[in-house]
Amino acid sequence: MTDSRPAVVVVLAAGQGTRMKSATAKVLHTMCGRTMLGHVLAAAEPLQARQTLVVVGHGRDQVSEELAKTGSAEPVVQDEQNGTGHAVRLAMDAAGDVEGAVVVVPGDAPLLTTSTIEALLRRHLETVAAATLLTARMPDPTGYGRIVRDQDGHVTAIVEEKDADERVRQLDEVGTSVYVFDAAKLRANLARLTTDNAQGEEYLTDVIGLLVADGEVVASVAADDHRETLGVNDRVQLAEARRLMRDRILEHWMREGVTITDPQTTWMGVGVRLEPDVTLHQNTQLHGSTTIKSGAVVGPDSTLTNTVVHEGATVLKSHCDGAEIGPGATVGPYSFLRPGTRLGARAKAGAFVEMKAATVGDDSKVPHLSYVGDAEIGERSNIGAATVFVNYDGVEKHRTKIGDDARVGSDTMLVAPVEVGDGAYTAAGSVITDDVPPGAIGVARGRQRNIEGWVERRRAGTKSAESARRAREQRVDAQSAAEGSTMDTETSGDGEQGERQ
Ligand code: UD1
Ligand code: CA
Repeated sequence: MTDSRPAVVVVLAAGQGTRMKSATAKVLHTMCGRTMLGHVLAAAEPLQARQTLVVVGHGRDQVSEELAKTGSAEPVVQDEQNGTGHAVRLAMDAAGDVEGAVVVVPGDAPLLTTSTIEALLRRHLETVAAATLLTARMPDPTGYGRIVRDQDGHVTAIVEEKDADERVRQLDEVGTSVYVFDAAKLRANLARLTTDNAQGEEYLTDVIGLLVADGEVVASVAADDHRETLGVNDRVQLAEARRLMRDRILEHWMREGVTITDPQTTWMGVGVRLEPDVTLHQNTQLHGSTTIKSGAVVGPDSTLTNTVVHEGATVLKSHCDGAEIGPGATVGPYSFLRPGTRLGARAKAGAFVEMKAATVGDDSKVPHLSYVGDAEIGERSNIGAATVFVNYDGVEKHRTKIGDDARVGSDTMLVAPVEVGDGAYTAAGSVITDDVPPGAIGVARGRQRNIEGWVERRRAGTKSAESARRAREQRVDAQSAAEGSTMDTETSGDGEQGERQ
């Protein structure tokens, strides 16, 4: 066979998508980590066409910007949407004097696969056809153009629903707007299109009727799965397409060795990478370039975006964005790891912990109710419950450094910039504003003072006062009983107590 690379791929994307009722161009609506247009271009990309042209119109700036970002295709502007035939005519004008195969795909068919387009192209080349179209049998063909065939089963025309009579409307084989054309024959027949139809548009579908009338070969391939050709015209169809794409992605990963305990509530995008023996539990969403390594368990109820989870780590009921979770590390339940969080091996971000731009060394733990921002924590250190890394002075952010084997007491405020050295402690409830040298304990809190009898005097008549009175009377009774046998006792001062945590 000669070179099977198509000369041109034309993506139709100029329509308004009125039924989406959106300020965003239809083909830029997203599903599973890409725009619809992105999915279509990704399916066409392996064909290695010499040119890929996207016909843009409505929302052309948005769409062209998206194309410029990915650099995958060139826009062709269609000022007025005079129909799919008109759109392809403009694309062919832009393509220049090309020869060979022209592939046409609609920008609103995000489920189309490379292998289906390749099969169409193969049939086209084998049959030396003027045009080869992808058809599908639809359980509900409403809205689609119907494929009309003669007694021998040869395609004779595609008839739009609005132009169809009752007999044609009964047909359930539809055109999918996916075609391969011979460039020269396409160009010649686009020039012959009229707007003499129900919508007053130049229909690309009419090229088929013209070719058949001229005795040209028109071949067809029926899609194995009609769902692959689903055209998205409104948000109900978008949701359906998204669900089908999700199923396809999940099926791929399950076949690659990933356990997904509840596929119905698990969602992920096309950029996610998973290793065998990853387990995903219900209500897990994986976005962006999230990567999960072997033996890791994520979920239930977790959302990970651009996050790396290393071997054997667990993430439970948590939200992670731009984080890296080390081997065997544990996250959650109910934690929020923001961009720049890096947990070392076996590190822990426990319950109700928020972290941002923070490095937590191997075997270090932040078990409960803490905020760790702009921080570096060494190895084997423990950050007590309710510790706050006070990183923001209202104007600027500052960093905190905690050494190895440090013990930060519960409810410590670490007012950055500040350092707690290797093997150092802080006393619970301290507001640490100065560095704590290695091996020292930083104590920074008010000393406790007890005012005896305060409740009975100042809260007389309350249940507390009543309990206080009973306790006092019992104490007095016990004391007088003891006084018979021992010397007077003296209440101790608060001596070294200030250092107790
Ligand atoms: C089209 C086909 C129909 C087929 C269906 C499959 C025609 C006349 N009809 O109908 O046979 O069953 O797709 O989904 O071709 N577009 C432009 N410029 C235009 C008009 C449309 O770029 O002037 C683009 C749209 O953005 C869209 C695609 O072409 O991506 C199809 O247009 P749409 O209006 O959705 O056509 P359908 O009515 O779905
Ligand atoms: Ca459509």
